[in-house]
Amino acid sequence: MVSRVIPVDDFDLVIFGGTGDLARRKILPGLFRRFCAGQMPADARIIGAARSEMDSDGFRTLVRDAIIEFGGDDLSSRRELPDFLLQLHYVTTDARGDGGWKELAAQMRSGVVRAFYLSVGPGLFADIAERLTSFGLADAASRIVVEKPFGRDLETARALNHDLAKHFDESQIYRIDHYLGKETVQNLMAVRFGNILFEPLWNSQYIDHIQITVAETVGVGGRGGYYDKSGAMRDMVQNHLMQLLCLIAMEPPSKFDPDAVRDEKLKVIRALDDVETHHIVRGQYSAHGDMKSYRQDVENERSFTESFIALKLQLSNWRWAGTPFYLRTGKRMKARSSEITVVFKDPPHSIFGDEGGQHHNELSIQLQPNEGMTLDVTIKEPGPGGMRLVDVPLDMTFADALGPEADDVPDAYERLIMDVIRGNQTLFMRGDEVEAAWSWTDPLIEKWQARSDVPKPYDIGSNGPEDALMLMHRDGRRWRDIKG
Ligand code: NDP
Ligand code: BG6
Repeated sequence: MVSRVIPVDDFDLVIFGGTGDLARRKILPGLFRRFCAGQMPADARIIGAARSEMDSDGFRTLVRDAIIEFGGDDLSSRRELPDFLLQLHYVTTDARGDGGWKELAAQMRSGVVRAFYLSVGPGLFADIAERLTSFGLADAASRIVVEKPFGRDLETARALNHDLAKHFDESQIYRIDHYLGKETVQNLMAVRFGNILFEPLWNSQYIDHIQITVAETVGVGGRGGYYDKSGAMRDMVQNHLMQLLCLIAMEPPSKFDPDAVRDEKLKVIRALDDVETHHIVRGQYSAHGDMKSYRQDVENERSFTESFIALKLQLSNWRWAGTPFYLRTGKRMKARSSEITVVFKDPPHSIFGDEGGQHHNELSIQLQPNEGMTLDVTIKEPGPGGMRLVDVPLDMTFADALGPEADDVPDAYERLIMDVIRGNQTLFMRGDEVEAAWSWTDPLIEKWQARSDVPKPYDIGSNGPEDALMLMHRDGRRWRDIKG
């Protein structure tokens, strides 16, 4: 199989916060990978903008070091690196003042795509959007990319939408949720809507329940200050898990186009029921050996913020009424594993009687690592002795099925940035979608705040607190094992 790389149009990409952690770890190494893949036009320019005083040579050194540190040996040893660095420029710019803006405007070319990536805290979005227009950098065809968190509740998200809308049309705003850029997340749509096999069964008549797990082994890292004000609900559920839920639960869009897809996702979010208190389990990891507890990591011994959350959700619509969705995500868990499992109902009648036992099909979609799909099917246990049944997996690990090219796919950020240059908003969140997600999230958070809920402790390296297991056990169900 030969992967096709379609070069994008010529562009000027300004990265506000080009010296920051996200830019160095993800955005710039990702752009270099696209350069190596031959997707970046020879004249395209990447312009770093931040307050730090440096010239373009200084920025090139910073980017080269970042590629060496975060890009891995394969990437940093690529012979294309010097040529890529020549496409980089830097302008010292203060988002809150006037310094640098005229020089930045003078750098911009006309007749090429202009994209502005705001890899800065959301507190700077409004300042930058305003100056982009007042200094004449942005035109009607320009694109602005904004990072998460997009607000911390409905009110702040609305204010951000309002601030951006003063200067940009919705068709110019690209709200990043990097989960939408992951290969297997897009595969969810391909599996559901590219096959006739699944869709007729994709409803509450045939599906018992759906599980979504995003387990991480990392802790809060150096982002304790931010995380302790957010917690797993705001940091992961409101955006990443919500997007996964939307893709698994939405109606088939009429076509794969930005508004058709986003309209359907929005309907899912709006169909979410309020969550009952006993369907929410929050947890915090405890210290283990020389590994610090959550509270030690965030340096807040009185923190009640959750580093783990499990939820049982219901959707009120024709397709899903009666089929629960169980979601869980947490840090410092047993393994890094993101997986969606669709558990089908038992056949209505077993012709094999008691001997056959109870069996059902499970479709498990492994998002990361080891992207792939497994479908558990029931067969006869081999050998004599009657009709005993056993479940076996039809295993399709994409790397095995597709060969080395399955490993050679762009990472989420690379793909999403190329989509910005192409002007394709399908994998970005629309303003009303983000607001709807907060409208559902806010009352849940208020609920546990009102009763001063204390997160349950869980061991580092575990599946999360015991109560999360009980959330399913009470319903006669169980979580799928977390395997890395
Ligand atoms: P950092 O603090 O590492 O970087 C912030 C960047 O903004 C720096 O380049 C800084 O440079 C620049 N900056 C700060 N103030 C100004 C200003 N007044 N004018 C111009 N530039 C300014 O943050 P991150 O890179 O970690 O995060 C950036 C955004 O991405 C945040 O919204 C974060 O929530 C989001 N994000 C980050 C992730 C990550 O893993 N890091 C993951 C997901 C989202 P200087 O000080 O030189 O001005
Ligand atoms: C980020 C969260 O959006 O996603 C982090 O802020 C989290 O807390 C990260 O660790 C997980 O992303 P990935 O791609 O490693 O699953």
